Amino acid sequence: MNHNPHSFRIADDAIDTKRVPYKQLANGDKIPVVGLGTFGSDHISGDQVAAAVLDAASLGYRHFDCAAVYGNEDKIGRSFNTIVDSGLIKREELWITSKLWNDKHAEQDVIPAFEKSLCDLQLDYLDLYLIHWPFPNFHPPGCDVSHFDANAKPYIHEIFMKTWRQLEKLVAMGKVRHIGTSNMTIPKLKLLLRDANIKPSCNEMELHPHFQQPELFKYVVDNGMVPIGYCPIGSPGRPERDRTPQDSVDMEDPLMVKIAANHGIHPATLCIKWAAQRGQVPIPFSTTRRNYRGNLECVTTPPLTADEMAEIASIDKQCRLIKGQVFCWKQHQNWEDLWDLNGKITPA
Ligand SMILES: NC(=O)c1ccc[n+]([C@@H]2O[C@H](COP(=O)([O-])OP(=O)(O)OC[C@H]3O[C@@H](n4cnc5c(N)ncnc54)[C@H](OP(=O)(O)O)[C@@H]3O)[C@@H](O)[C@H]2O)c1
Repeated sequence: MNHNPHSFRIADDAIDTKRVPYKQLANGDKIPVVGLGTFGSDHISGDQVAAAVLDAASLGYRHFDCAAVYGNEDKIGRSFNTIVDSGLIKREELWITSKLWNDKHAEQDVIPAFEKSLCDLQLDYLDLYLIHWPFPNFHPPGCDVSHFDANAKPYIHEIFMKTWRQLEKLVAMGKVRHIGTSNMTIPKLKLLLRDANIKPSCNEMELHPHFQQPELFKYVVDNGMVPIGYCPIGSPGRPERDRTPQDSVDMEDPLMVKIAANHGIHPATLCIKWAAQRGQVPIPFSTTRRNYRGNLECVTTPPLTADEMAEIASIDKQCRLIKGQVFCWKQHQNWEDLWDLNGKITPA
């Protein structure tokens, strides 16, 4: 393992990056089919995540999913600097995503927030910049899901477009190659696709075997966007505040256990293999070397059979883990309103 944050070498057990597939974006650019998530929740320090980023790159990872709200971009930036400075991996070989947080949607705040991420990450451009959630609000870091922001706003398309125009400006300035969304719904995406001068390249959304979102997934793909799947393993390390008694555990599903055993891999790794083969880009988080190595290696081994893919398609439990309760804009509002379940944008 690369222990020294100031030196970088390719690992002896690195995965041949030529064997890692890419997904093609609408303009022909390519995104590596597995990325490393970097959200350490409350218990994994920025230094630990930064060490995993450095080591994962030495093993063959070229795609990293970052965000300002994860509070560790400055630490991860040191790893990127070490990697690129080594001369062993060129900046153009990396795919680096960051995201605009909910308290920076105002027109005048977007570019400074972007610049802060860029500076922390020690980069001069980003490959992808996402609007993290479509709702403007402010919450102190690490607050409980019961926290309520009296100034929280619902999705108001005209206001969202003002934020989007700033992202378009970043593309025109040559600061970011692609822009996209996260935690969107079909009705919201329809409006954005109608009005955007630069269309979103990707939509980042919760995707794992027990939460497959087939309708949204199809809409995203049919409209030329790449679906990036977060919590691809079902987020077993998520904080208590994001757990409810109804949540199911993908890794313990008997079908996942059975198919994983047939392939000699961990059920968590099967989640990643299934995701990449289905057509999304999973971004598993891990700071355990054996795990993040396995999560990349699994896309280089023989594929799942059509029967196995069909069996996994049948275990969807519509179990959303990241409900977004804290982003409600009315006190005692139901979190389901955030997700436009009746096909219409929930009004204020
Ligand atoms: N756009 C959004 O709103 C949004 C929301 C949530 C998350 N995200 C992004 O998505 C990323 C992934 O989501 P997540 O971190 O919530 O959940 P996840 O990737 O589904 O799960 C991560 C957990 O799985 C464990 N794990 C990973 N690989 C494993 C393996 N092969 N075998 C056994 N256990 C394994 C990790 O432990 P070890 O460290 O021990 O391996 C960690 O506890 C985040 O880090 C973040 O970048 C985005």
